[in-house]
Parts: sequence; C-alpha cells; structure tokens
Amino acid sequence: MSDKRTFFSTRLGVLAATVGSAVGLGNIWRFPYEAGTHGGGAFLLCYIFFVFLIGVPVICSEFAMGRRSRTGIPGAFQHLNKGRSGWNWIGWIGIAGAVMIISFYSVVAGWTLEYTIDSAVGMFSDHVQHNRHAEFLAFTQGWKPSLWVVVFMGINGLVLLGGVQKGIERVSNILMPLLFLILLAFCINSLLLPGAGEGLRFLFNPDFSQLTPTVILGAMGQAFFSLSLGMGCMITYASYFKDDTPLMKTSIQIATLDTLVAILSGVIIFPAVFSFGMSPAEGPTLVFEVLPNIFQQMSGGRIWSTLFFLLLAVASLTSLISVSEIAIAFFVDHLKMKRHMATLTLTLVGTILGVLCALSFGPLKNLDLFNAFDYISSNILLPLGGMSTSIFAGWVMKRSTLYAELQGKGKLPRAAGEAIVISLRWIAPACVLAVFIAGLMI
Ligand code: TRP
Repeated sequence: MSDKRTFFSTRLGVLAATVGSAVGLGNIWRFPYEAGTHGGGAFLLCYIFFVFLIGVPVICSEFAMGRRSRTGIPGAFQHLNKGRSGWNWIGWIGIAGAVMIISFYSVVAGWTLEYTIDSAVGMFSDHVQHNRHAEFLAFTQGWKPSLWVVVFMGINGLVLLGGVQKGIERVSNILMPLLFLILLAFCINSLLLPGAGEGLRFLFNPDFSQLTPTVILGAMGQAFFSLSLGMGCMITYASYFKDDTPLMKTSIQIATLDTLVAILSGVIIFPAVFSFGMSPAEGPTLVFEVLPNIFQQMSGGRIWSTLFFLLLAVASLTSLISVSEIAIAFFVDHLKMKRHMATLTLTLVGTILGVLCALSFGPLKNLDLFNAFDYISSNILLPLGGMSTSIFAGWVMKRSTLYAELQGKGKLPRAAGEAIVISLRWIAPACVLAVFIAGLMI
C-alpha cells in the first residue's frame, strides 16, 4: 500500500468519478449496437434484470473490498484473504481485461474526436445526401483512427499524471451533468422524427421469442461492461473513498444513472434508425452512422453535433481513465513503481495495442483484434471476474468485514445486508455460470 494515498474530496466527487467511469461509450455506443443486434426490447429487459439483481450487489462487494483493503488488485484479494495469495488470480484476470478494454476503447474514443472535428467544420450540417455507411467505412479503413488513438491515449496519460483528485474528479464534476442535459435534448428531437414509434416499439416492446442464450449472455456482458464491473475497477476507485462514503446508496445511484443513460441513448438512436430506414443490426458502427443523419436534419445541427461528440469524448475519457487506473494502481501498489513511470508504461502499451485494434478495420482485418478484445473482455473475462469476486466477497471475506464496510458511518438495514450476501453467495455466481455455459455452448 502506498503511504501517500490520496482520496476523493467530496461525496459529489465520488459520485461523479464512479458514474464517470460507468457512463461512457458502453452506454452510448455499445448499448445501442448490442440491443440492435440482439432483438431490442428482450435485450433491454434482460439487461435491466442483470444490472439490479447482480450488478448492484457486485458493485457493493467491490466497494467494500477496495475501501477495506485500501489497495488495487490483486492486492485487495490478498489483504482480505489474511495475506494469502490464493485468490490473486482474480486480480490477474482483471489486469488482462483492463489492457484489452483500453485497447479497443481507445479506438472508439478516437472516432469521437474525428467526429467532433467533422461536426465543427459542418460535415453533418450540409444539405447533401450521404452514404454514411460508405463514409464511415472509408474513415475506419484509413490511417486516421490510428492517429486518434495516439492523441486520445496521450490525453488520458496527462490526466492520469494529475492523480486522483486533481485529474479525475475535476473533469468529471463539470462535464457529466452537461452530457446528461444534452442527451435529454436529443431524445426530444428523436421522438419528434416521423416514424419514431417503430423505434420505440423495437426498444420497449420485448419479443420473447428473441430470448436466446446468446442474447442473455450479451445482456449480462453488457451489464458488467457498462457498470465497470468484474475486473477491479470499482475496487480500485473505492480504495480512494473516505470512510463516510455510503457504499450501498452510491451503488444504487450508479446503477440507476447508468441505466438511464443507456435507455436515453436507445431512445435517441432507435427512432432515428427506423425513421431513416436503416438497420438496427448494423453492429459496432451503428451509432456513428445514425447520429450524423439526426444532426443533419436538426436546426443548429452543427453546434449540437460538435457539443455532443465533444461530450462523448469526455465521457469516454472519464471511463478510459478508470480502466487505466486499474493497471496504474497495480503498477504502483504491487510492483512499487512510481506513479509517473506507471502512467508512462500504461500509455505506451495501450497506444501500441490500440493502434493494432484500429487497424482491424483495414490492413489487419483478418486478425480483428478489435472485435476479439471486445468479445473476450466483455463476454468472458468480466462475467468470470464478477462471478469470482462475488464468490470471494460472499464466502472468503469475513462477513463482519463486509457488513462493517457496507454500514460505514450510517445504518445498514439487516434485510439489505442479508439480501446482498445471498446474492453474492448464490444468485450472482449461479446466474453467471448458467448464462455463461449456455451462451458459450451455442
Ligand atoms: N463502463 C464504461 C463504459 O460503459 C467502460 C469501463 C470503464 C469499464 N471502466 C471499466 C468496463 C472497467 C469494464 C471494467 O463505457
């Protein structure tokens, strides 16, 4: 444990940073394309189910583990296992997952920078008919996305050098509320599009015949990804919480806000998809092909779209920072590196792998690291990490320690504590295992 550990200074800061981690491309880019390829309403329903039944208890357990041990992964597992290293492997899964996520995440974050500039120069506010699919393909196949990865990882590294309080907290506090407001404005705009109803039906009217193991596995992976769970991110952040941060309340707030943003994005995207006669099952490129069409028909589209992509870039930054912090805390706490060396190492590795992922749309199409990393991390490593974390918190960590942390300085209703323990011991592991086996066998 490093002796100079800093802390989030205010409650709002904690909320902004953890929500800042949760809300990101996962909500605005990944959720719509996953829901779009997995049947809309049925996917949404499963997703919400997993967020509250498994997600909230697992956030609570990660928070309790991080704050009690005051260290990142894998140290937290060792500390709470009486110094024994038998459970440290969960930490290694986390680090591997973090590196994969950083790699493909930086690519999509880079796209948002390109789109910010394109918006600012008026490319989405002209009156020309566009083939958005072809345009996006041409962009992603070229060299520019690789350049943007370098730029984005550079910015990420600079903020991380500033440390927890000055860097992460300050950026999140201001910009997260702004993003929320602008999403609301876009929702209203989308709802007024001709034919919006069909999009809403797609998202909110579940067709249960679509409910296959693949859809359920996808929804579970999305829940873990969106809540930043299953690889020690929330453990790492909670190691910077003060003793009076209420863990359960914060967990529920994060889950609620995060889900709200995902639903808002769906309400923005799907009415537009149907209104413009596009297909919801477009895959990872969906949002980047649909949004420009929305902006093109909005009055003041140039300003709106610039602001939107800028805020999306910032939301991606606060999330990327949190994934990076997992690895940095590991370098600092476990390998005893200096913070700036740790940041530099991570930035270098992340940039190289990020560029390789960016090239998955062009020269390295056959290797396709981008989709491989996305699938392996979200659908395999995160559920596996989440399941192991909940088994650890439910069975290995002392129950009195878990309760003491959940209770903090306030009161923990007995029933709430018990419900969380039951979920951590039985429900979460059983659900993940069942979905996992069924999903992977198909
Ligand atoms: N939750 C973020 C998003 O939705 C991504 C993210 C940040 C993440 N930290 C994480 C995903 C840790 C998994 C684990 O964009």
